Amino acid sequence: MKGIVMAGGSGTRLYPVTQGINKQMIPIYDKPMIYYPLSVLMLSGIREILIITTIEDIRNYKKLLGNGERFGVSITYKVQKAPHGLGEAFIIGEEFIGSDSVALILGDNIFYGSFFSDTLKKCISLSRGARIFGYFVKDPKDFGVVEFNEEGEVISLEEKPLHPRSNYAVPGLYFYDNTVIEKAKRLKPSGRGELEITDINRLYLEEGSLSCINMGRGMAWLDTGTFDGLVDATNFVKAIQDRQGIMIACLEEIAFNKGWISREEVLKTSKPLLKTNYGGYLMDLVKLKEKR
Ligand code: DAU
Repeated sequence: MKGIVMAGGSGTRLYPVTQGINKQMIPIYDKPMIYYPLSVLMLSGIREILIITTIEDIRNYKKLLGNGERFGVSITYKVQKAPHGLGEAFIIGEEFIGSDSVALILGDNIFYGSFFSDTLKKCISLSRGARIFGYFVKDPKDFGVVEFNEEGEVISLEEKPLHPRSNYAVPGLYFYDNTVIEKAKRLKPSGRGELEITDINRLYLEEGSLSCINMGRGMAWLDTGTFDGLVDATNFVKAIQDRQGIMIACLEEIAFNKGWISREEVLKTSKPLLKTNYGGYLMDLVKLKEKR
C-alpha cells in the first residue's frame, strides 16, 4: 500500500499566519504539523509516500523532509494547483499509486492512542473496498458525518451537514483499493466547488464495499485547522510527552524501531538538532538501545 499526505489548501482560517507559511509547516509543540500524519503512515508500515502541496510550498517541504531517506521511507512530491478538494489527491497521484491500494491522510489531522498501530497494520492489508473511521464528537457539523444502523453498518455519509444524523465525524484518514482512482475521476465538484472525499466514500458505500471502524473513547483525534485547535494540540502533545518522556511522532524513532534506519543514521540526524529536546531524544534513543 502507498500513502498520500494532502498538505496544500489555503489555510484561510489561520490567516495571517498562513499568508506566509503553509499550514502543515506550523509547529505542533516541538515539531512541524506534517510530522504527525507522516508518523501515522509510517506506523502503518507504509514506506512510499507522496506529499501533495502548493507550488509555493513544495520547495520548503523538500528542504524539511528531502527524499525521506533520513526516515527510511521514500517521499515524492506533487503540486495541487488550487484547493480543488481532497478527491483530487487520486487524480494527481494516479501515476504514483500505479496498481496499488492507497491510504490518504490529511496534513492537519493528528491521531494518538494505544493499539492504534495495530489497527493501522490491519488496514494496510486491504485489497478491496474502502475503510474509514468514525469518531464521536460533540459537534460534528464541521466534518464528514457517518450514520450507522442498529447492526453498526454504515447507512449514510454527509459532508458538513447542517443537521447531522449522528455524532460520528469521519477523521481525515482513509484506506482505499485501486478503484479509488477511477471513482475520483467520476466526481463532480460539490456546492463549495470541491471534489469531496465524502462523495468517494459514498460511491464505496453504494457498491457495498465500505467499512467503518469506530475509533472508540481512548483515542485522541485532533483537528488543527483553527488557532484554538493548534493550541489544544500543542498542549496535548506537550502534556503526554512531559509525563511519559516519550515523543509523539518522532519519525526517526519509528524508522529506527522498524529497522528501516541504522543507529549511525539516527546519530547523524541528531547532531544538528542537539540544542533541542528532539535531538537529545534521538541521542538517548540510540544509547537506550545499546544498553538493552
Ligand atoms: O478533518 C477531517 C475532515 O476533513 C473530514 O471530516 C471531512 O469529511 C473532509 O472533507 C475534511 O474537511 P475540511 O473542510 O476540514 O478539510 P480542509 O479543507 O480543512 O482540508 C484538510 C486538509 O487537506 C488541509 O490541511 C488542507 C488539505 N487540502 C484541502 C483541500 C480542500 C489540500 O491539500 N487540498 C485541498 O484541495
